[in-house]
Formats: sequence, structure tokens, C-alpha cells
Amino acid sequence: MASKQDIERIIEATDIVALVSKYVKLEKNGKNYKGLCPFHNEDTPSFIVSPDKKLAHCFGCGGGGNPIKFLMQIENIDYQEAVARLAKDAGIDIKSGYQDNKNKSLAKYYKIMNIATSFYSKNIQNTKDGLEAQEYLNKRGLDLDLINTFKIGLSPQAGSTIYEVLKDMNQLELDMFDVGLVDKNVSGYYDMFHDRIMFPIINENGDTVGFSARWYKGELKGQPKYINTRETVIFKKGEILYNLNLAKGDILKKKRFILHEGQMDVIASYRSDLKEAICTMGTALTMEQARLLKKYASHVIICYDADSAGIKASRKAIGIFKAMGMQIHLVLLPDKMDPDEYVMKYGSEAYKDYFENNMVDSTRYLFETSLMHKNLNDSEVCEATKAEIFELLNSIRSATEIEEYLKKTAEVIGCSFEAISDDFTRYARNHTALTKEEPSYPSGGDFAYPEYPPYQGEFVPPYDDINGGMVPELILVNKKQWNSICELRLFRYARSSKQEALYINRVLEDRMEAMSPDSQRLWLALVDNYYANYDEFDEGLFLKIIKEADLLTYYCDVIEALNGDKTPYSEDDRNECLIKLKEIKYYKLMKSLVEKTNLSENDDEKIKLVTQVWNLKRKIDELKKARRK
Ligand code: UTP
Ligand code: MN
Repeated sequence: MASKQDIERIIEATDIVALVSKYVKLEKNGKNYKGLCPFHNEDTPSFIVSPDKKLAHCFGCGGGGNPIKFLMQIENIDYQEAVARLAKDAGIDIKSGYQDNKNKSLAKYYKIMNIATSFYSKNIQNTKDGLEAQEYLNKRGLDLDLINTFKIGLSPQAGSTIYEVLKDMNQLELDMFDVGLVDKNVSGYYDMFHDRIMFPIINENGDTVGFSARWYKGELKGQPKYINTRETVIFKKGEILYNLNLAKGDILKKKRFILHEGQMDVIASYRSDLKEAICTMGTALTMEQARLLKKYASHVIICYDADSAGIKASRKAIGIFKAMGMQIHLVLLPDKMDPDEYVMKYGSEAYKDYFENNMVDSTRYLFETSLMHKNLNDSEVCEATKAEIFELLNSIRSATEIEEYLKKTAEVIGCSFEAISDDFTRYARNHTALTKEEPSYPSGGDFAYPEYPPYQGEFVPPYDDINGGMVPELILVNKKQWNSICELRLFRYARSSKQEALYINRVLEDRMEAMSPDSQRLWLALVDNYYANYDEFDEGLFLKIIKEADLLTYYCDVIEALNGDKTPYSEDDRNECLIKLKEIKYYKLMKSLVEKTNLSENDDEKIKLVTQVWNLKRKIDELKKARRK
């Protein structure tokens, strides 16, 4: 970055008349030059260039300024780039040019934020206002130790204090602006945060990247409770988690983390010896954050506010963690409380006790919360709730659990157990569950499958191509693309006896679509037309039964391919072929889901789809194992 002296040298060395002449036709006018303003429409020239003062200024619209400002405006570029271009023209070597600077580390931003953190912290410890802020925090259960632990500070009442502090430490205005600490108006730079308790948001490496600033002087009266740093180069709300820097050790030790909504809740947990707590600061959990957390532990306990917004956010977070194959528990606090309120009301020991003894798994949480805060007397709401619960129950294995949930549902909505069971049975018949249990995948280690989510570029399916990992026996016969040799082999078994054919046909019912369309037609001809009328297979008779010419050709190709197939007949081989067709069916389904996932622009839907993809992947793996027995 160019220093102040560099900037002065650059301006000094720039021939402003030559610079402006590239854009404006200038005429000499005494000591100065004059032309039509490039920044607004005019007929008589009011754009004056002064080589002495190194200024190009319009007296009509006020546009222009020194060479840097002029170039920024006329080329629509930023300050640094303008400086870099002028330096290059003037042959001045500034330490790192604009391009280098772009790629330069973010260290200068962290430095500024860390200076600000310690300034705000000193301000809360050593000023009269600071005492008042401390009193507020004390009332909320935070003593000086905790204030220090979390580096909590106070921003001064008014003015441009942080700006002055940073300027005294030779920090550049543009950098201060870039990290969201100062802004600028006509009278100059001023601080963004005034008179608020400053919670620094610190990244994994211990650098402050943003602040969450809380109002502490009585009622809110229309102003926001918290003001947060806007999105900056180093502060990405969707990627950062409050307190991860302090919590990571405990998360690793306990192999779990607690997810809260706000920083006061994290501190409440910390006070209650639950130091593995982190939060998203009021925004919805993102996949990036979940992925970051999964690096540390694969067990999450979600403990959001127990109000309807918190429940809604919890349900969404469950979807994200499920899609990542995490172990999930939830704690729902009583009376719509948040953790901080619970600790204030009942104390930290009671909170810890409640927390450890009231964890429920995600199924129970989803079940219980789907019946909450709803007007179940409205028949539409009631039916929608039933459908939601049925979908959930359809994904669990345990019959006793299903019965328990159904009983409870009947009780709450006020119908008989028989009626709700009937409804559920009908639902289950019409909706094949993709999963019969919560997915659980290996985490970390040699887990070689593509990472969630499909958000970063395309989601790569576990099997990239049907010719790839899954069906290695795919063959080309007579330039015809068979789906798989196994579908051909089944014809050979079907031709061997009617009993075989009928058996295979029964098994094939749920995987017919895995066969090529031609094979499907041929199969129908064989079973429905041929074996329906004859008990033994006879090639001549069968050929007569095939009416369509193209199907006849296809059959000839099949026979030719089978003649070249030397695998001995066996029951095992026949079963393997059948299993493989099921794999292909799942594979095709998976492929279409992957395509859908990549096209989807809706987060909820994406999560659902990705979960389904992974469920299918697991099923395929199970089938593969069965085949290799
Ligand atoms: P809450 O409204 O639940 O606040 O918002 P809280 O954590 O209980 O805060 P206290 O106890 O009143 O101090 C949860 C989180 O959402 C963000 C904050 O990060 C907060 O911790 N939030 C909330 C904002 O960013 N702006 C707001 O105006 C309110
Ligand atoms: Mn609170």
C-alpha cells in the first residue's frame, strides 16, 4: 500500500493537464486550462484545470478534484487502483501495487479490528460510562472476569474516537472503512458504533472480524437491540460462529457442540460449565457454518430460543445437520425461554441440569414441535400436520415408536387411535420411504465421498457415471448399448423354466425401470404373452409370438450376446443379477435427484434432495455388500 508520502509524490509528479487532456479538450486560459466538463452536460466551459494547484475542477457541478479523484471519477475505479495507475504513469514504485494488494493477506484488517477490540475494552474498564455499562452487564450476570474472557467493550458516546485512535496508529482510512468501523460524510470520517456494548466476533484464529453492539441504556425506543458489523472482506455472517475460538478445545474434548441463537446465550452456557457453546448471531445456520463445525465434532445439540421463531429455525437446522450425517439432539426450554433467561431465573446449575437431562433426538423434536402452536381445530391445519407427522414416522423403523407417536397424535388432535393408524397405514402404502432410519455416515478420516452441500459448484454424485464405479460389467454388444449384462442374463434364466421366469418376474416388479425399454418389452412378451399360454420354453413358438419387427431384432441381439456369455448358470448368479438391477434403479433415481439438486435454488429443497441422494447411496452400498457375499 502506498504511504502518505508516496501519494504526495505521485500527485506532484502527475502532469494533470496531460492527464485530463486524454478525456477533455482543453484551452489555455491564463495560468489555467479550460474545457467542457466531462461530468455533466454543458455548452459553455466551466471545467478548470490548474497545473499549479494540481486540480481539475468543475465550477458547474463540483466534479473532479486532485488527479487521483479525477481519475477515480472518470474511470469509475477505486482509490487504490487510481493511485496505482498514476504511480505507474509517473514511474513511481510504490511498495505493493494494486494487483499485489488485492491478493495481499488480510492481516491489515485484522490488525485494525484487534486495535479496536482493545480500545473498546479499555473504554469499558476505565471510564465513567464504562462503569455504567459494566453495571448493566453485572445485572445480567457477567462479572469483570467474563467481560475480559469475551473481550467485551464499550464504544464511546459520540464522535470519531475509534477513527482518531486508528489514525494515530497510522491505519489507512480506506481500511478502516473496509472493515466497517468508520463511515464518511461531508464533514469527514466518523465512527460507526456509539454508546453500545461491544461484543467482538472472533474467528477461529483469535482475530476480531466484526462486532455485535448491544444497546444497554433502558428501553429500545425504536432503535435496534443489536447493531452488527455489515458484511466486509473479513466479516461474512454466513461463515462465522460466535465463540468458536474459545469453544473449540471443549468441543474437541467433549466431541459435541451446543448451538445457540445469540451471544448472551453462549455466555449463559459458558457460565454454566457448558463451554462448548457457539452461536450464529440471530441469522439462520448456513451449510458453511455447519461444515466448519463438523471439523470439530459430529454431534450437535441445538438449543435455540423456545419461541416459535426458535422452533422454526431449529427445524431448519436439523435439516442441514441431517444432510451432513451428524448426530443431532435438541433441548427445548420451558415457557418460550432462551438459555440466558433460564440461567437468570433458575441459576446456572439448574440450567446445566435441565440441559443435560432434557435432550431429545430430532425425530422426537420434530414430532413434538409439529403439534405445537397450531390451531388443530382447523381441519386443513390438522390434515397438513398429520401429513407432516406421517412423513416423519414413515422414516423410522421402530414399530413401537411409531405406535407411541400415533397414540400421542390421536390424543392431541382428538381422534381415535384406530382412525389415525388407518390413515397412517394408507399414507405409508402410497409413500415409499426413501429411508427407514436417520442416515449416519462416517465422518472425517477416510470419508472419501463428496462433501455437502451442492452449494459450491456442482454436486458430484457418489457414482459419477453409470459406466464408472457401479456397473463395471456394462458391455457393448453389436454396437447396442445394453443397460447392463445382468438384464440380459435374466432372460437366460427365464428361458430355462416357467418357474424361474415367474419368480424373476415377481422380484422384478419393483425394479423393472432399471431395464432398458426394449428389455422391458421383451420381458412382457415372455411372461405375459408366452408363459401365460405355455408351460415350457420353446424358441420357435416364442419367436412367433413376438409381433413387432424391432423387438424381434432386439431378441436376436440378446441371444447373440448370451451365446458369448460364459458365466455358468447358478442361483447365486441369478440373485446377483436381480440385486444389481435394484442398484441400477436406485442409481438412476439418484442421478435424477442429483440433477434436480443442482438445478434447485431453494435451500430447504436442496437439503431434502441431498439427504435423499445420500440415503440412496447408502442403500446402493448395502446392496453391493449383499451381492458380494
Ligand atoms: P435475540 O433477540 O434472541 O437476542 O437475538 P438475545 O440473544 O436474547 O439478546 P439479549 O438477551 O436480549 O441481549 C438473538 C441474536 O440475534 C442477533 C444478536 O446476535 C442476538 O444475540 N440480533 C438480535 C441482531 O443482530 N439484531 C437485533 O436487533 C436482535
Ligand atoms: Mn436473551
